[in-house]
Amino acid sequence: MKAPPLRLLEDIDEPGLHLLEVYERRGGYSSLRKALTELDQDEVLQRISDSEIRGRGGAGFPMGMKAGFVPKGDMDKYLICNADESEPGAFKDRVLIQKNPHLLVEGCIIGARAIGANQAFIYIRGEYAHQADILERAVAEAYTAGYLGKDILEIGFDLELVVHRGAGAYICGEEMALLDSLEGKRGNPRLKPPFPANAGVYQGPTLLNNVETLCNVPLIVGLGAEEFRKLGTEQSIGTKVVSVSGNVQRPGNYEVPMGTTVREIIYDLAGGPPEGREIKCFFPGGSSAPVLTGDEGLDLRYDFETMAQAGSMLGSGSMIVVDDSQPLVPLALRLAEFYRHESCGKCVPCREGTNWTVKMLERIDSGEATPMDFELLVQVQTNILGNCLCVLGDSMAMPVGSMLAKFRHEFERHAAEARARNEGALVEQSAPELAAAPSIGPA
Ligand SMILES: Cc1cc2nc3c(=O)[nH]c(=O)nc-3n(C[C@H](O)[C@H](O)[C@H](O)COP(=O)(O)O)c2cc1C
Repeated sequence: MKAPPLRLLEDIDEPGLHLLEVYERRGGYSSLRKALTELDQDEVLQRISDSEIRGRGGAGFPMGMKAGFVPKGDMDKYLICNADESEPGAFKDRVLIQKNPHLLVEGCIIGARAIGANQAFIYIRGEYAHQADILERAVAEAYTAGYLGKDILEIGFDLELVVHRGAGAYICGEEMALLDSLEGKRGNPRLKPPFPANAGVYQGPTLLNNVETLCNVPLIVGLGAEEFRKLGTEQSIGTKVVSVSGNVQRPGNYEVPMGTTVREIIYDLAGGPPEGREIKCFFPGGSSAPVLTGDEGLDLRYDFETMAQAGSMLGSGSMIVVDDSQPLVPLALRLAEFYRHESCGKCVPCREGTNWTVKMLERIDSGEATPMDFELLVQVQTNILGNCLCVLGDSMAMPVGSMLAKFRHEFERHAAEARARNEGALVEQSAPELAAAPSIGPA
């Protein structure tokens, strides 16, 4: 495979890129200058809309459309960057923040300008302490250089940017829970509507986007929408930074044009599974995506529409590869434990469903399951889907449900083998006792 063209990761290994001086030397903040001095607010928004960029945080909603929902007018408006990145398998935002923090800061400023927000927040997961330190330093440098604060580039635009550290809860990456957390409350999802564009943080109109989405914004302004659209597919524009992990020889972040095949990403870039192994299945969009088997998924194009048509999703763009040496029951159990632990407990189907899923998978794993457990397990997943305020529960139900649907035989075999082991152990354990027992028959 020819090396894919890079956009977001092009300069990523440039020494000192996290410093303003190096970033500016590489052309950094020139898009901000263009956005503020050559374009008016509406033109900036139009450029983002014309790029047709879809969100990189999970749902793939067009950023321009979301920004367009933010009402015009003089009320206080907000921009929030979602840097919570807590989904198992996702680590692409981390590298962008750590190595190229000014790109994100520049994207936030241009994004804020597009909707006329004067206050911005970057909500970063608590465990990313090192990345948060780097980001805070970049923000301080941007203030000193006059890219943040009052009267930016002397065009009369003010913007304050705060880096807010979370406390390590996956649910706080869900946009409505994030808003509550940012306001100092416990991070629980809110009922939608109203959506953040109308009533977000402090009830003000808010544009909320993922790190990677916002990192694309300076490129959109710099290149122009038409040039930006040249990479990718008709409906999935641009490149995608894909975090590849699991059973591959070269795990890491790879930037590819949307529409690159899964095989190219897993084999050509990430080195494929270890020698002699085959791919059993993979999660195309982080741990919440329904799995695709190697047979059905490897030759598909990696983009929003193809992954959805295949019954899965691109999600945050994190691929977890599972080879044929991995038993799926412990994997499904570990996954369900994660979601049970992270469920905020507000909605019954999620709170109870994640708990019961763990219990039934434990029974399958330990050989105590009856055929009824399998039916119940499927039923519980179905009852979670679409029945909660947010999709945290769905994020367990979809992968677990898909593993069960596609590898039911493996789950049943796992349970049967565990049961046989238990019975064997029982016989061995009771044999010496039988020998020692007093004989009740005739001698
Ligand atoms: C449980 C849960 C966790 C989420 N975590 C993140 C996250 O860490 N980062 C993120 O950008 N989006 C996350 N999302 C998706 C956000 O709710 C939201 O759709 C996204 O931040 C919007 O940005 P985008 O339009 O740029 O993709 C999560 C959603 C759910 C349900």
